Amino acid sequence: MAKFKQNGSHEYVVQAEDLGKDLQMGQVTVHALRKASFTVKKGEMLSIIGPSGSGKSTLLGLIGGLDSPTRGRVVIDGVDITQLDERALTRIRNEKIGFVFQFFNLVPTLTALENVALPVQFARNRQFNPARRAAELLTMLELQDRLHHRPNQLSGGEQQRVAIARALANNPPLLMCDEPTGNLDTVSGALVLDALREINRTTQTTMIIVTHDLNVAAQTDRVIALVDGQIAREIDPTSTAEMAAVRSFQEHAGDPALVR
Ligand SMILES: Nc1ncnc2c1ncn2[C@@H]1O[C@H](COP(=O)(O)OP(=O)(O)OP(=O)(O)O)[C@@H](O)[C@H]1O
Ligand SMILES: [Mg+2]
Repeated sequence: MAKFKQNGSHEYVVQAEDLGKDLQMGQVTVHALRKASFTVKKGEMLSIIGPSGSGKSTLLGLIGGLDSPTRGRVVIDGVDITQLDERALTRIRNEKIGFVFQFFNLVPTLTALENVALPVQFARNRQFNPARRAAELLTMLELQDRLHHRPNQLSGGEQQRVAIARALANNPPLLMCDEPTGNLDTVSGALVLDALREINRTTQTTMIIVTHDLNVAAQTDRVIALVDGQIAREIDPTSTAEMAAVRSFQEHAGDPALVR
C-alpha cells in the first residue's frame, strides 16, 4: 500500500475551533455539542470517550462534514470545510475521510471485494484499479480468503474489517470510526482494533475513534473525554492511574455502557 507523504503536507489533519451544535426541538434548544476545540496531528490515533448523550457522534459528524455546526469551524487537512458548499463538501468527504460505523453498513447483495471496490469505482479514482485495490486492502486486513463472501456469510468482526477496508479504499488521510467495536464480542473487537492499530502504524492514516470501551481507548495515542457537550479533559492513555480514575468515575456515574 502506498505510503502517505510524511513531509510537505499539513501538520494537523484536523483542527476544530470552538465547535458547537444546537438542535431545536420545538421550544427546547438541545446543546448537542456546546464547545469543542482540539487538533489532531498527522498519523495520530485519537479516541473520544464519554457518557451516552455527551455529544460524541455529534462531534464526529461535524468533523466529518456529515453535519454542519451552529458555531465554530473545522479545518481538515488545511481546508476549512465549514466554508464549503454541499458539492465541495461531498468531494472533500470522498477524498479525505473514511467512515466506519458500529453496524458495518455493507451492501448485502455484494461480496466483500465488491463492497470495497465500490467507492473506488464511484470516485473514478484513476490511481487505483478497483478490484486490485479491494483485494490488496482485504489482504491487509487478513480477509484474503473471504473476498467472495457476502456480508451474511461473514462474522461480525470480519464484516467490520470489510467496512474498514471500504473506508480506506480511496486512501483518505483521515479515518473516523463511531463505536467500531460496539457490536462485537471481545475477541472480534480486539482483532478489529489490532487491525486499526496496524494500519495506523504502516500507513500513517490519522484516526479518530469514538468508543465506550476504555480498553479500546487505552490503545490509542490520545484520549479526549467529552462530558455534557464539552471536552472535560484529555487523558494520558499510558497512565494507568489516569485510566483507572476514568474507569472509576464512569462506574460511579452509572453509565453501564461505559463499563465493560
Ligand atoms: N437530531 C437530533 N435532534 C435532537 N437532539 C439530538 C439529535 N441528535 C442528537 N441529539 C441530542 O444531542 C446530544 C448528543 O447526542 P450524541 O448522539 O452526539 O451523543 P453520543 O455521545 O454519541 O451518545 P451515545 O454514546 O449514546 O451514542 C444528546 O442529548 C442527544 O439526545
Ligand atoms: Mg453516539
